[in-house]
Amino acid sequence: MKVLSVTSEIAPLIKTGGLADVAGALPLAIKAEGVDMRTLVPGYPKILEALGEGRQVMTDGNLFGGPAQVLFGTVGDLELYVLDAAHLFYRGGGPYAAPDGYDWWDNSERFAALCWIGARLASEGHLHGWQPDVVHAHDWQGGFTPVYMQRTGASHAVGSVMTIHNIAFTGSAGADMIHSLRLPMEGYNAGGFEFYGRISALKAGIAYADKVNTVSPTYAEELKTPEFGMGFDGTLKYKGADFTGILNGIDTDYWDPATDPHIETYKVLRGKAKARAVLCEEMGLNPEGGPICVVVSRLTDQKGMDVLLHALPRLIERGGHLCLLGSGNPWFEGKFLEAAAAYPGQVAVRIGYDEPLSHRIIAGGDAILVPSRFEPCGLTQLYGLRYGTVPVVAQTGGLADTVIPLTVATRMAKVATGLQHAPGNADALAAALDELCDLWAQPKLFQQIQRNGMKHPVGWDVSAAEYAALFKEASRNP
Ligand code: ADP
Ligand code: GLC
Repeated sequence: MKVLSVTSEIAPLIKTGGLADVAGALPLAIKAEGVDMRTLVPGYPKILEALGEGRQVMTDGNLFGGPAQVLFGTVGDLELYVLDAAHLFYRGGGPYAAPDGYDWWDNSERFAALCWIGARLASEGHLHGWQPDVVHAHDWQGGFTPVYMQRTGASHAVGSVMTIHNIAFTGSAGADMIHSLRLPMEGYNAGGFEFYGRISALKAGIAYADKVNTVSPTYAEELKTPEFGMGFDGTLKYKGADFTGILNGIDTDYWDPATDPHIETYKVLRGKAKARAVLCEEMGLNPEGGPICVVVSRLTDQKGMDVLLHALPRLIERGGHLCLLGSGNPWFEGKFLEAAAAYPGQVAVRIGYDEPLSHRIIAGGDAILVPSRFEPCGLTQLYGLRYGTVPVVAQTGGLADTVIPLTVATRMAKVATGLQHAPGNADALAAALDELCDLWAQPKLFQQIQRNGMKHPVGWDVSAAEYAALFKEASRNP
């Protein structure tokens, strides 16, 4: 089975969030299932640099306003098709935004171009010796691919799967762009890519793909409700059995406390104490008192950062600590920096994106907080489990699917791995932090929960097999 993944980011080359981790890990994890997955990515400067030479497999004289070529090559273990289109992707800043932080004005065209090439590779792959059986598109950036596949006739021979990592980004464009985005007029309706009087690339992917999934079973159910669906609930319900949830895994070689090059490595809890001491030293935290609660996150509403700010006084009162690494909404950044100034030794904050520091923080913490309002899957609670850092999470989406909350029953059965609280509710989070501090005062029970977490499977084994089965269902020759 050959699968072409179409994604706007891929770890370790270019990353703004969990999508990159998933796009980078799945091709390797799914090899064992007999799936040969290659990935189409935009030729951002960093990716072209990492690729080096590359073999030219396709040219396009006029790809949304300029010439382009597609290069094929390997980077590490990844087999990449890189869309080298200087007028669209050879720019400074991040994958979506200019250096000033504002989104590029032509993002619709940029990612439509990626999808256009995805559809061309699907139909013309045989010309260079590798034609996919299925195309796997991610989020709105990959959303037009199934539409173009239908337009070019590729969908007769090649199946399509659309994965929703985040429903909040709809890939919106004005309805007057139908022609310039090379979309078929007849698709502009409620059953197609029309969304509240505009075009939505995400809606396009949902409507046109053979199979649609999101990244946890609970979030798949939530998305079918008006509360979480953000206007897509009806469309997703209509997909019936063609819309499912497959839980994300993490790369357990990369996130392994026994071999992690960024930390003082440890295999058992006794060793973790060293990582904690190193973190306290580095971040200026007082090691005495209550548990060290860590956060590694985008600082946004989705992630419940306002909820955390409201609950923080309770943790402080109880002698606990907060160690936060993140960036995003400037208001949140300012508020967390204020908290750090107000509680030196108890609150430490780093604004920015720092991969090595994220490992030291996750290793050195006692608990990891993920108080999201909604969370398709979430990855940092999985890192927490693997590193013996107890997850305290909102009971929503993938957080509900990955953490076994402490209850009387799970305590008796010795299977609890963390704590859960109602989402979007500061009192509920404060109560969970209270419970955490109580637990912290019972080292035997706390360590039991840490050990349970370290044993909990967080890799890709089960989910890679589920993706392989989904690709098979979508394929025209299963
Ligand atoms: P989302 O994709 O919604 O941001 P996930 O939990 O799925 O949430 O993935 C976030 C990824 O980004 C994780 O790998 C996390 O460690 C990483 N990350 C988030 N913020 C930072 C940061 N400031 N520094 C380093 N890594 C970060
Ligand atoms: C999104 C979601 C996150 C998920 C990630 C990878 O960014 O917000 O919950 O883990 O995608 O699927």
